[in-house]
Amino acid sequence: MQPRHQRILILDFGSQYTQLIARRVRELGVYTEIRPFDAVPDDNDGDLAGLILSGGPDSVYDEKAPQPSRAWFAGGYPILGICYGMQWIMRAFGGEVSASDHHEYGPATVHIDATNSRLLKGMEREQLVWASHGDRIEALAPGFTTIASSDAAPHAAAEDLERGWYAVQFHPEVVHTVNGTQLLRNFVFDIAGCKGDWTIASFVDEAIADLRRQVGDGRVICGLSGGVDSSVMALLLQRALGDRLTCIFVNNGVLRMGESDQVLGDFRSKYHLEVRYADAGELFLSRLAGVEEPERKRKIIGETFIEVFEKEAKASGDARFLAQGTIYPDRIESASVRGPSATIKTHHNVGGLPEKMNLELVEPLKDLFKDEVRRLGQELGLDPTFVSRHPFPGPGLAVRILGEVTAERVGLLQQADKIFLDELRAADLYDKTAQAFVVLLPIKTVGVMGDFRTYEHVVALRAVETTDFMTANWARLPHEFLGRVASRIANEIHGINRVVYDITGKPPGTIAWE
Ligand code: XMP
Repeated sequence: MQPRHQRILILDFGSQYTQLIARRVRELGVYTEIRPFDAVPDDNDGDLAGLILSGGPDSVYDEKAPQPSRAWFAGGYPILGICYGMQWIMRAFGGEVSASDHHEYGPATVHIDATNSRLLKGMEREQLVWASHGDRIEALAPGFTTIASSDAAPHAAAEDLERGWYAVQFHPEVVHTVNGTQLLRNFVFDIAGCKGDWTIASFVDEAIADLRRQVGDGRVICGLSGGVDSSVMALLLQRALGDRLTCIFVNNGVLRMGESDQVLGDFRSKYHLEVRYADAGELFLSRLAGVEEPERKRKIIGETFIEVFEKEAKASGDARFLAQGTIYPDRIESASVRGPSATIKTHHNVGGLPEKMNLELVEPLKDLFKDEVRRLGQELGLDPTFVSRHPFPGPGLAVRILGEVTAERVGLLQQADKIFLDELRAADLYDKTAQAFVVLLPIKTVGVMGDFRTYEHVVALRAVETTDFMTANWARLPHEFLGRVASRIANEIHGINRVVYDITGKPPGTIAWE
């Protein structure tokens, strides 16, 4: 289908920041799409507003360095090369790039040399930027002029006004490049002529029209977990299709305390959705009995989920469509330089079901980033407690109980988790962390209560700050706060007598413990 918005396309050379470029440009109200570096222009690409070449880990003179199609450079639209993208352009069009012994990683200062630059318009002469390159441009390709330089990079930024090609050695998309947004704004508005026609309100209208076109007068089923993606999706489907939607909520026995009541209650009474409830906790727990290995737990939960969902879907009538809350980062075939770096979300995915049940897939959020899904939720009137929810893994508390999952252990963890989350909300810290939870450890330690020695479980509190969940900092929660949570957990929960706080970043740790 022909895109209805002005579009900036990003070719991905494997930089860890590629998605960030796309998000930054979308924040400016301009629609972006990411394609792998070896994509070739298709029939729809004639109307591109502009093209951005991302950075990447390779050196341009490596034998295996990723090479984009030259057809992109004949399109007549403005092009911005970032880091590897710049080096590739320079080398490919007659400039010279060499390995430098003066690598530049991290903060750097560049001097703007050209007062009449289009790309750097409105920026002060000295700019703090984020650099990350080992290669150095010795000579620009003919047609380019240097517009900024630094000690390590004599050609830190360049432009060829005639061809409309621009290039920077540093990363305008990261926050450490203080005026990076200004640079991107200059590129997408002044140079590429975008108007900023990508808004959530316009998305809603178009998504509704698309859904009505795809579904016709058919019925749709979808899984509803109460997480952001499935909740927003359900409200959007309802807006488009009214009561031709059935949601299925599966209680897998490893949910947080009170979760099923909250989700069922809110979505049925507040949003008037038809939600079928599959109370399968005992089935899941019986299959998890004796299982300690994390991947086995995930597999059992995934398979059992599909089984329960399928049964419930069949009982719900004659739906021909299955809606899934797939979002854009789930499906970007990123990088492809060393194989796809995108992780596909298998947990939410009711994998295999559409074919098995002969259902057609509906994915109304498939072009949105997470922050856009949240804004869409607000637009659709979703309660803030759902809009700003931390992510909760598909396998739920099962991967937060190290070792065997039993009803008793689930009960202990549910109580501890509730205390931690209640206290975070009360202290106004919930929204300041990206994810926070408790882990039940498979060891017991000695404690003392009154005159008695105890020998009980240990739990670990985990709280992180992150935007993309690929890297994360442990949250520097106030000591007073941590003390209060620890004291409540150890005193109020019979069976837990010790609380520790996880101060590991990612890397080297992961966010979850298993
Ligand atoms: P890690 O532990 O890899 O976690 O740093 C990154 C994010 O992924 C979540 N996570 C999962 N989510 N099913 C899910 O739905 C899973 O099996 C799973 N494992 C980890 C984790 O909570 C964090 O947000």
